[in-house]
Amino acid sequence: MAHRLRMTALAYLLVAVALIVPAALGQGHGCDDDYQEDGDRTGCPGSSHDTVEESCHLLNCTWCPTVPDTPIPWCYVSKVGVGYVMVGEPINSPGGVRVELQRSAGRTRWDNEAENLVLEAEFQSNGRLRVKITPATGPPRFEVPIEILPPAEGNQDPLYELQFENSPLFSFKVIRKATGTVLFDTTVGQKNFVYADQYLSLTWSLPSENVYGIGENEQTSFKHDFSANKRYPLWARDHTPEGTVNIYGVQPYYTVLETDGNAHSVALVNANAQEFTMRPGGSINYITIGGVLDFYFFLGPSPENTVQQYTEAVGRAPMPPYWGLGFQLCRYGYDSIANMRAAVDRTEQYDIPHDVQYGDIDIMLRRLDFTYDPVRFNGLPEYIRELKAKGIKFVTILDPAISIGEPPGSYETFDLGQTMDVWVKRADGTPTQGKVWPDPPVYFPDYSSESTKEWWIYLIKEFHNLLEYDGLWIDMNEPANFIDGDVNGCPGNSLNSPPYVPPIFGGTLWSFTLCADSVQAAGVHYDVHSLYGWFQSEPTLIGTQEGTGKRALVLSRSTFLGSGRWAAHWLGDNFSRWSNLHFSIIGMLQYNHFGVPLSGSDICGFNDNTTPEMCQRWGQLGAFYPFSRNHNAIFNQDQDPGYFGPAVANSTRTALRIRYNLLPYLYTLFHLHHTRGDTVVRALWHLFPTDQVASGIDKQFLWGTGLLISAVLDEGQTSVQAYFPDSRWFNYYDGMEVQTPGQTVQLQAPLDYIPLHVHGGNILPTQDPERTTLLARNNPFGLIIALDENQSAQGTLFYDDGGDTIDSHTVGNYYLAEYEFSNGTLTGTVAQNGYAEMATKRLDTLRLMGHTPFRLMYVNGNPWFDYTVNGATGEVTVLHLQLPMNLAFTVRCEP
Ligand code: NOJ
Repeated sequence: MAHRLRMTALAYLLVAVALIVPAALGQGHGCDDDYQEDGDRTGCPGSSHDTVEESCHLLNCTWCPTVPDTPIPWCYVSKVGVGYVMVGEPINSPGGVRVELQRSAGRTRWDNEAENLVLEAEFQSNGRLRVKITPATGPPRFEVPIEILPPAEGNQDPLYELQFENSPLFSFKVIRKATGTVLFDTTVGQKNFVYADQYLSLTWSLPSENVYGIGENEQTSFKHDFSANKRYPLWARDHTPEGTVNIYGVQPYYTVLETDGNAHSVALVNANAQEFTMRPGGSINYITIGGVLDFYFFLGPSPENTVQQYTEAVGRAPMPPYWGLGFQLCRYGYDSIANMRAAVDRTEQYDIPHDVQYGDIDIMLRRLDFTYDPVRFNGLPEYIRELKAKGIKFVTILDPAISIGEPPGSYETFDLGQTMDVWVKRADGTPTQGKVWPDPPVYFPDYSSESTKEWWIYLIKEFHNLLEYDGLWIDMNEPANFIDGDVNGCPGNSLNSPPYVPPIFGGTLWSFTLCADSVQAAGVHYDVHSLYGWFQSEPTLIGTQEGTGKRALVLSRSTFLGSGRWAAHWLGDNFSRWSNLHFSIIGMLQYNHFGVPLSGSDICGFNDNTTPEMCQRWGQLGAFYPFSRNHNAIFNQDQDPGYFGPAVANSTRTALRIRYNLLPYLYTLFHLHHTRGDTVVRALWHLFPTDQVASGIDKQFLWGTGLLISAVLDEGQTSVQAYFPDSRWFNYYDGMEVQTPGQTVQLQAPLDYIPLHVHGGNILPTQDPERTTLLARNNPFGLIIALDENQSAQGTLFYDDGGDTIDSHTVGNYYLAEYEFSNGTLTGTVAQNGYAEMATKRLDTLRLMGHTPFRLMYVNGNPWFDYTVNGATGEVTVLHLQLPMNLAFTVRCEP
């Protein structure tokens, strides 16, 4: 028997022989029959580097030693796939093509393999292609009940072509017509194409290793690393973000930046336990244990186009309320209203912008949803009103699990749930029972059922009569369960113990959640588990809007494809560790790809204690998360921005005041997402897709096209290495132009400073900051105009009542202005004038960066002298313009 770490000389010899003649190894000499090339292997679940041959066989896997001390598994999943062959010719129709497949001869190790399959391709639009593979016969398989929205554009001139091959086995390719680039090619895995009832596997090669996405997990670089056979299991789970471990959401979606700068993205509409292995050489092995193979390809060709096309299909995020872009403060473990008040007061004392205060589960009575503790949080309803009077909104938490331990007739949430029969059931029809926050056992609402949605919406609306929340935070919705499965355990059957389980944390489908054979309206938990938070998000948004009568904020921990339609997302229970500053940028960029632009991580870190320096730097970085919230775990020292005294407080205030100054720009970026699908924060390669260096940059990020954020992410550093692609960039603070674009520059960044640069070609609308957005919204507007190499720039401003109207886009009561600078003239035009308040607001200031010297300035044709020029940087500041926002205007600089 060979042991990985204690190899005998003979074993080394065998390995050497194996490397020369791998086929011979497959015939014996320590290998089982199913010899697989190193790169083809998927490590056996439950095995490790120390696994020996005997235990490998007990795990029902294949054993075959290969190169020692590499990540290549010796004990791997036996596939012995036989693949499929095409029957007849592809059948073309105007909107697509249909191919019939038959399983090639031979048996594999999987039960219930489909003998015949049908591949149906739909050419949904020029940029969107769907390829779906299902069994030709047999009972219908589970399909995710996602609403895929119709494309606006037709399919007359598709950017793609689909090719099929049949030698020796079936494979298909998606090709970009314009360049001939093969975007997706299953030739590489044709013999390992398996379509069994509980094991579906397909491998495809990619045109480039610039691959981004696939979640949810913690990724240490935005761009995937294909050198290490990294496996990403996906199965919603309450687990701290730690490497490839499957965590809260399931996002089977990735984007590829092709070598010529074109981009495409792929969504796999499958919710079952699944995994992606990023294989050396640039291919992906995909395994799922249920559902169907349903691929959507989005052909771009620009990186932004991929997100626009993807979100057109799965739905785009609604506008956030304006206050939802303000700074938010939270902690788990305030434990009393006095402590909550103390944190709020410290923030106020240091004049730190603060728009939203949170209540976590410690405000609840016995951790019961829809309650508050009248002793520890005595006076909470009044305090919430006091906060509101200052312009601070209140968001509180709801967990799905409902206590069954309250006396009958005393807890409406449970009693009504019983009456309306809202629970997830065991196979025998009784409610699944688990354990979460309340002391007694809990039932789990089945949000896929109509009566549960009705119940939940009703309770949320009622709750507003108790606590006047402005938004709701839905947590633990993977769903988390502190015991595995059920208080009674999980019965032994093929749902709870399928023949193959991806390498998910805990090793079983029911670990820290419900039994997979639990029953929900939309299907067995085996199929719908990872949709739990997704099903909960929409009724929560509806209830919150109905409860408040206004636009609301819903924050969800668990997400799936398309969750952005209803909910924002924070990146979960991160750590107060320096590495987590970097990872937060990656997570936020990913979620912008996933169509959930309102995202960010817990500022200063959730688990463990932060340090003042870390919190100071995180406060600066977090001021530029779209979702900017400081949150902390129970029993940790406080970390609200006022807690550490003047140094942390002052630099947090400075950074947040810059955020607030730029909020009209950030809000406009959300409008561009909502209407067009743009990302709000994006990586540099979105703007510079042919720039090789930019493809790997994930420590800097952009707001839209206009602002580059290069925060310090490491301890003890007072400078930062920042890359500036070849373009014009201006220091946000003084308008100084970056002298060496196309290079990495060492920027000075003392502790109280975050480097920010405005990108030439952009006009950013601003508004002077205040302690809350409520106050800031009364202040005059300004424009930051950064010119490109042609002395021109463009920008947009979207503005409305900030959320009094739930959907101002539909109602039409919004304001939209377009700004253009060219030939020395800034022109402002009003494209939509539906927000009457705009007539009372003024455009007061301009900051003009990168303009060549000029002699005279005219505003609306009249000479204007109220401006200054910074002698060192050339930035021009124009003051006191007092231009009514509802009217068009011009500002001309005459040479
Ligand atoms: C887990 C959440 O991730 C965290 O943010 C929250 O504070 C705790 N649950 C307590 O509600």
